[in-house]
Order: sequence, then C-alpha cells, then structure tokens
Amino acid sequence: MRIRGYKIIAPFYEHLRNFFFPAIKKYQSEFHKLKPQLIDRIVIVGGGSGDILKPVLKKFSKSTVYFVEPSTSMMERAQERFGTSRRVFFIQESIENAVVEDADLVLLPFVVDILEEQQLIPVAKKTRELLKNKGFVLFSDFLKPRTFSARLKLSVLYMLFMPIRGKFQTSLPDYDDFFKTAGLRKVTEKQSQSGLFVSELYQKV
Ligand SMILES: C[S@@+](CC[C@H](N)C(=O)[O-])C[C@H]1O[C@@H](n2cnc3c(N)ncnc32)[C@H](O)[C@@H]1O
Repeated sequence: MRIRGYKIIAPFYEHLRNFFFPAIKKYQSEFHKLKPQLIDRIVIVGGGSGDILKPVLKKFSKSTVYFVEPSTSMMERAQERFGTSRRVFFIQESIENAVVEDADLVLLPFVVDILEEQQLIPVAKKTRELLKNKGFVLFSDFLKPRTFSARLKLSVLYMLFMPIRGKFQTSLPDYDDFFKTAGLRKVTEKQSQSGLFVSELYQKV
C-alpha cells in the first residue's frame, strides 16, 4: 500500500525531528559492531526522506540497499538526494507488501513505534521473512518518555502523523513482543542517558 498523506509532513519532518530530537540521527545510524564484509544486501524499512542513506552507504560501502518507503512524498525526497546511486533500489511500498528477500541486514529506524497495533505481527513476521539465516536487524526507536518536556516534544512529532494514523498516538508498542514474534535474538543494546532512545542489534536464529 502506498501512502499519500505525508505530503504536508515530508518537507519539514526532518527539520522538526532534528530540532526536537537531534539524537535520532545518532541512534538510527548506530551500527554496533557489525562487520561490513558480512553484509551484502540491506533493507531499510520506513527510511523516510532518506537521510539515513548517507551513513548506511558510507559504513557498508560495498552493499546493495533496498529502500522501502510507502509515502510518495518521503520517497520523492529520498530519490532527489540518492536517486543517482547505483547501489540503492527504491521500493515504494509498505514493508508488508514489498517484494525483497535474502537480506543480510534489515534496518528498522524509528518505524516500529508508529505502526498500528494490527500491523505489528505482520511486520514482525515479514522482517523475519526478509532475512537470510543468521541475518541481522538494527532497530532504533523511542522508549517511554520520562520527563514532561520529552513527552511534549514526542506528542508534537506524533501530531504530524495524526492525519495518516487517523488518531493521536498515546503509547508505544511492546518491542520485546515484536522481536519475539519475529523470532530474533538480541545481540547488543544501547540506550541514551535520558532513557528516551534505544538502538538494538538482533540476529535471526
Ligand atoms: C517516523 S518516520 C521515520 C523516518 C526515518 N526512518 C527517521 O528516522 O526519521 C516513519 C516512516 O515509516 C514509514 N512507514 C510507515 N508505515 C510503514 C510500513 N508499513 N512499511 C514501511 N514503512 C512504513 C513512514 O512512511 C515514515 O516515513
């Protein structure tokens, strides 16, 4: 399924995100100790307007990247920036419907948090399906905000996604459940001092 509703959000999503939460950039490109030579095919799920492609292409300088993003506006922005790269293939689809396989690495950068409840199980199963045996998943996302100001800023960010979700988001999914459904084993985890951001490396077993 393709999404059109991000037209208003796409031009200023990254600016707003970086203004409120500059740490997102750091956590979405936290690669733990993954060895680039083990990674041939990468799938980025919900890569948004594409800024994640820069650190990914740099770190995995020989890999092919499948950039899966359902929003037309977000995809247009990503293609404007990286459309000339021979190593990036753009798939404008939600991950549930994307046709791509045999990934050595799947990235889930700040995307699981905005999935609707009914999408969690299909996306978890699809994540597993995409991966080769022993393949990796890099997951980064928000944890429950502990302070009033973090709660407020997160609410503003989520307000942007209201027209698409149809309702205001008030809670985060159970990430442990998500990865249990996907049948993935946690390898390493890093959390920010504020407790608001997490980056985890998983492996298919
Ligand atoms: C909160 S944004 C994060 C964008 C970017 N990864 C970042 O960290 O700034 C979530 C992105 O996930 C995409 N998305 C939503 N549902 C998706 C799905 N089912 N499959 C793939 N991408 C999805 C949205 O279009 C949006 O661009």
